[in-house]
Formats: sequence, C-alpha cells, structure tokens
Amino acid sequence: MSVSSALAVRQATMSDVDQMLEIINHYAQQGLMLPRTKLSVCEHLQSFIVAHDGEKVVGVAGLHILWEDLAEIRSLAIAEGTKGLGVGKQLVLYLVDQCRGLGIKRTLSLTYQKEFFEKCGFKVVAKEALPQKVWKDCINCSKLPMCDEIAMIREI
Ligand SMILES: CC(C)(COP(=O)(O)OP(=O)(O)OC[C@H]1O[C@@H](n2cnc3c(N)ncnc32)[C@H](O)[C@@H]1OP(=O)(O)O)[C@@H](O)C(=O)NCCC(=O)NCCS
Repeated sequence: MSVSSALAVRQATMSDVDQMLEIINHYAQQGLMLPRTKLSVCEHLQSFIVAHDGEKVVGVAGLHILWEDLAEIRSLAIAEGTKGLGVGKQLVLYLVDQCRGLGIKRTLSLTYQKEFFEKCGFKVVAKEALPQKVWKDCINCSKLPMCDEIAMIREI
C-alpha cells in the first residue's frame, strides 16, 4: 500500500475518537503500548493529532507536557496497513514542531521502538536522569515492577 496524496496531519476531533481507540487498543492488546479508554481520549483530545486520509484515521499520537522543558509523546500508533510508509515519522516531527512552538526544549519518548525514534532524531538517555514526574502515570501500568521501556529524548 502506498500513502495517498490526500494523507495529512491535523488536530484530532471528536469524530476521530472511535478510530483512534481502535488503532491504539489493537497494539495495547499485544502489550506494545498502554490501552486507552474512550473517556481518557475525550478528556485529552486537545493533546492528540491524527494522520488521516479523508475520513479515515490511519495514525494517532499525543503530546503530554510534563514540565517547563519536557513533553512526552504518547499513544503513537499507525494502522497496520499503513505502517512503514513514513506516517509515524510525520506524526513525531509534527509534535516536535508543536514543542518548538510552545517553547518546550525537549521531547521524550518511553518506547520499545529504539530504531524508529533514532530515525526521528531521538537519543537514548538514562531513566534516572528524568524528573520523577515522568513516572506519575506508571502506577497504572502492569509492567511497573519490571519496566523495560527505553527512555529517548530529542533536544529542540
Ligand atoms: C512504531 C511506529 C509508530 C512507526 O511508524 P511507521 O509509520 O511504521 O514508521 P515510519 O514509516 O515513519 O518509519 C520512519 C523510519 O523509521 C524506520 N522504522 C520504523 N519502524 C521501525 C522498526 N520497528 N525498526 C527499525 N526501524 C524502523 C523506518 O524504516 C524509517 O526509516 P527511514 O527514515 O530511513 O526510511 C509504528 O510501526 C507502530 O504504530 N507500531 C506499533 C505501535 C507502537 O509500537 N507504537 C510506539 C509506541 S512508543
């Protein structure tokens, strides 16, 4: 499958929510990312962007501000049929640009996708170097005692 020329990135809207949940929770079931409820996506809708081809959502990502100089990319997922076509990188670079616009100096990802984030300009950092606030939401994660995610940062 190739990316249609109609594919674009924009802020998410309420009419995208069900498709966003379908994409995110598909990978959450495989243990690749945290699941999301409809309530949590609706509550945080302003922080989400989508890649879409007309009405069809093919990718989703969110930006969560953690501190004055740090924002985290969350819930990044590309629909199965659209992976490997540059859409994930497009979403990440869009959020990096948002950080730049907001005056936030560092973008964080906690991920298993090291090579992908390296291609997006991120570098591995020691988890211990991150502020404690980063771990606030980990309380809800089943992997908390043995977290094996890699912390990666892109300086802006
Ligand atoms: C990880 C994910 C977001 C990547 O999005 P994508 O659209 O498939 O990736 P892109 O096509 O934009 O890839 C950008 C670059 O990264 C590379 N890349 C992508 N996935 C990779 C992987 N798993 N391993 C190594 N390299 C990878 C691509 O080859 C490409 O390299 P290039 O710039 O030299 O051509 C997507 O595969 C996905 O949704 N995975 C499942 C959910 C997930 O793991 N989310 C991440 C949570 S942090």
